[in-house]
Amino acid sequence: MTVTIENLVTSGTFSLDGGTWDVDNNVWIVGNDDECVIIDSPHDAAAIINQVRGRKVLAILLTHAHNDHIGAAREVAAAVGAPIVLNPEDLVLWKQAYPDTEPDRYHGEGDVFEVGGTALLAIHTPGHSPGSTCFYLESEGTVFTGDTLFNGGPGATGRSYSDYPTILTSIRERLLTLPPETVVRTGHGDNTTIGAERETLAKVSQ
Ligand SMILES: [Fe+2]
Repeated sequence: MTVTIENLVTSGTFSLDGGTWDVDNNVWIVGNDDECVIIDSPHDAAAIINQVRGRKVLAILLTHAHNDHIGAAREVAAAVGAPIVLNPEDLVLWKQAYPDTEPDRYHGEGDVFEVGGTALLAIHTPGHSPGSTCFYLESEGTVFTGDTLFNGGPGATGRSYSDYPTILTSIRERLLTLPPETVVRTGHGDNTTIGAERETLAKVSQ
């Protein structure tokens, strides 16, 4: 059975350090007709639940815990009966959105999440946030990068818990080493490829 990758865009706000910004976020649903995983859970629980179409949800994998990526996670998790999985280094951010709860499980470097006869590999890529993680779906030649790598370069590192040299190291050592034709599916905006972003990063000074 073929693995499908579905994209849903939800709209809302991102708040950190006292500021609030309007944002559109990508939700990615990877699976087949029977089961799926959801990558990030922003803003609109009803839209995400609708996109699941009654399939068994094995996990809600979070790329990081900025509130624009996790705002609907609890509601979606309760509705579909799936665990929320986050890198523990982002707990400080998680607690800003959900001060009284913790994620259901934690993921870390090298963890593998099987779905629909294939598997996603967790690649820990700190920098945008301490626990930022990309999920590599090698069988489909694609990587889900959250806010670590966008079409046009690295994710933002101007606010709390971010670090620019760290994100550059993560991208160069962990992402640009993937095959150049790998499709990069991001947390905001359009897809890109590893090859295209190698050229972008070549122009970024350290
Ligand atoms: Fe973010």
